Amino acid sequence: MINKINALLAEINNLRANNSEEIETLRIKYLSKKGEITQLMNDFRLVAAEEKRVIGKMLNELKEKAHQQINQLKESFDNQTVAGDAPDLTRTSYPYQVGTRHPLSIVRKEICDIFARLGFSIAEGPEIEDDWHVFSSLNFAEDHPARDMQDTFFVKQGKDLLLRTHTSSVQTRIMEKTQPPIRIICPGRVYRNEAISYRAHCFFHQVEALYVDKNVSFADLQQVLLFFAKEMFGADTEIRLRPSFFPFTEPSAEMDISCNLCGGKGCPFCKHTGWVEILGCGMVDPNVLENCGIDSKTYSGYALGMGIERITNLKYQVKDLRLFSENDLRFLREFESAI
Ligand code: DAH
Repeated sequence: MINKINALLAEINNLRANNSEEIETLRIKYLSKKGEITQLMNDFRLVAAEEKRVIGKMLNELKEKAHQQINQLKESFDNQTVAGDAPDLTRTSYPYQVGTRHPLSIVRKEICDIFARLGFSIAEGPEIEDDWHVFSSLNFAEDHPARDMQDTFFVKQGKDLLLRTHTSSVQTRIMEKTQPPIRIICPGRVYRNEAISYRAHCFFHQVEALYVDKNVSFADLQQVLLFFAKEMFGADTEIRLRPSFFPFTEPSAEMDISCNLCGGKGCPFCKHTGWVEILGCGMVDPNVLENCGIDSKTYSGYALGMGIERITNLKYQVKDLRLFSENDLRFLREFESAI
């Protein structure tokens, strides 16, 4: 046994290899399951008890040495280049992973681009807001349920700081410091105290549009809505407006589009009605204009607001809202070609 170990040690001290395949062959020869050193290790149990200590030590040293030598060969081979220190230009490159745009970013951009073509410019406001900009200036009654802790995240109890529940707050921010004409589109993230499920999340994204000028009418709003629906969902899309209520618009409406899956014939997606709801809108309430220092006798305006997740779901049939915030690459890569 001792002779065998010494012979192997001599061999191992002189290991040579010209390429990685040869190194691998050496590794297999000595260290694989059936390798020579492994076999010696297996035979160790046959060694007489009084010799075990000495031979055990020698065997371990042999194995250690073999690992060392093979690793060294590998390292020296990795550092080797074709012509001395010059980089090997013939080597194939590593695969280069390119990121993709998030589906919500794709749709946000598409919405903003459509409104930009109508002369709207982008405006943004803070996500941490105060009661005035999110509620009071927008004509919410003192006891409106949306102000409730159940719906709104307050940053600090007793302090006038909260996470905005809608992007309508940006309307006020802009109107307070600008006189008409105002034509803005406001994308942003909003927060609501909702239990997270496939159809609700505690944060999501909205786009708000606002137009204030002399003689702005409900017919202007309808025209813009129709243009938007056709640009976003295709030229065959129809719209319908249903009366609704929002504190900051009078009159208010909700807009449906003809179901973009069945073309309005009725399917499970539109619950067999042929229509799907996509946004809220209306004429800016004169109180809101006055709250922001705009003369409501001279000016009028319309506003509309929509959820980006909702529009994305309609365009791409995403069934679970949580996918948007989970960073699952398998989901995100599905939108590679949508950019
Ligand atoms: N702020 C509303 C919401 O979060 C959406 C909305 C409805 C915005 C009507 C508007 C509007 O500007 O006119 O549900």
